[in-house]
Amino acid sequence: MDIYDQVFENNKKWVESKKAEKADFFEHLAKSQSPDFLYIGCADSRVPANEIMGLEPGDVFVHRNVANLVIGTDLNVQSVIDYAVNHLHVKHIVVCGHYGCGGVGAAMQPQDLGLLNGWLREVRDVYRLHADELDAIGDEKDRYNRLVELNVREQCINVIKTAAVQRAYLKDKSAQVHGWVYDLHNGLLKDLKIPFEAVLRDIQRIYNLG
Ligand code: CO
Repeated sequence: MDIYDQVFENNKKWVESKKAEKADFFEHLAKSQSPDFLYIGCADSRVPANEIMGLEPGDVFVHRNVANLVIGTDLNVQSVIDYAVNHLHVKHIVVCGHYGCGGVGAAMQPQDLGLLNGWLREVRDVYRLHADELDAIGDEKDRYNRLVELNVREQCINVIKTAAVQRAYLKDKSAQVHGWVYDLHNGLLKDLKIPFEAVLRDIQRIYNLG
């Protein structure tokens, strides 16, 4: 069977399996959503948000783009964050990068990337911010991996810069921000343990919107 047709066969089987587990699975979900997580990840086909977290439909509000970027003028990601925090009242906001990220790898090459120049300049800015640390890493793969981690950290800081997240946190300490990296080679998630409160305190001198 053609892969396109296969998808509809798969869908029917999936519907049946979900109903077998819980007869009112779809009726229940159709009523509303109240996910605990907002997940901002890379568009890479190998990093499916719900699946790697072992969570079901309804559990995760998802936004994905090339290299998991959170850009202040990107109405798309900013709207997602605003809705997730102010309307869905998510408890956790995760920025999840992944080792072997093509977007981060491309940004490491000092060359014209066409349309992607504008988008991936954000990752090049992350490199420039951390150039001393990155340039001191001799091994190219280690440097690549570290840039993936630092990019996640900077995107978490971009999340913390938003008024929605600052206000939610100051109000009742809801909406914690977390930075994760997914390893394509073993499927494991690593929590970078970004000190959310300390980062917020640190940047509020400049970015206070609370
Ligand atoms: Co990627």
